[in-house]
Amino acid sequence: MKTYNVRGYRPADRGDVVRLWRTCGLTRSWNDPLKDIARTERLGQGLFFVAEDEEGGEGENGALIGAVMGGYDGHRGGAYSLAVHPDFQNAGVGKTLMHTLERALIAMGCAKINLLVRESNAEVAVFYQALGYARQDCAVYGKRLIVDDEESFLT
Ligand SMILES: CC(C)(COP(=O)(O)OP(=O)(O)OC[C@H]1O[C@@H](n2cnc3c(N)ncnc32)[C@H](O)[C@@H]1OP(=O)(O)O)[C@@H](O)C(=O)NCCC(=O)NCCS
Repeated sequence: MKTYNVRGYRPADRGDVVRLWRTCGLTRSWNDPLKDIARTERLGQGLFFVAEDEEGGEGENGALIGAVMGGYDGHRGGAYSLAVHPDFQNAGVGKTLMHTLERALIAMGCAKINLLVRESNAEVAVFYQALGYARQDCAVYGKRLIVDDEESFLT
């Protein structure tokens, strides 16, 4: 059985998280993942969690095998960019990451959580349903406020 540990994200995890997102097909050309992470670090809500393989990796940290980003706006919580390395999928890591995020949101007084699933990733619905999530009848509207290519966030 694979053993893993879930802990809060640290800035030293940044590169490993981007590699994990790429491996799991979560990056998009119009989103700079490093800038997304930097924005989350700047907010510092403590809702970013990672899972590490206790047997892998060097030094203080194990190899990073999972991650989930969360957010809370005072009305609702959100889960973003949940990813588990393919070698560790179907071992409960995704469920543990989501439960860790849910517990942290509840501790902040957050009463509900929403997340987005791309139409092209419909198969992941079974995973979320197993965790008690139900599809809601809402249209999602969005508007880009900052184009990453033109932003100087990291400079
Ligand atoms: C979706 C994802 C995070 C699931 O992580 P995981 O660690 O493999 O999931 P778990 O092992 O914790 O599974 C939890 C439950 O969901 C079920 N499940 C997970 N993936 C499933 C799938 N593809 N089809 C059916 N059931 C699935 C498991 O059987 C398990 O059920 P159980 O608790 O009754 O045993 C992982 O597959 C992944 O990283 N996918 C690629 C990135 C992605 O699509 N992220 C979501 C963006 S919205």
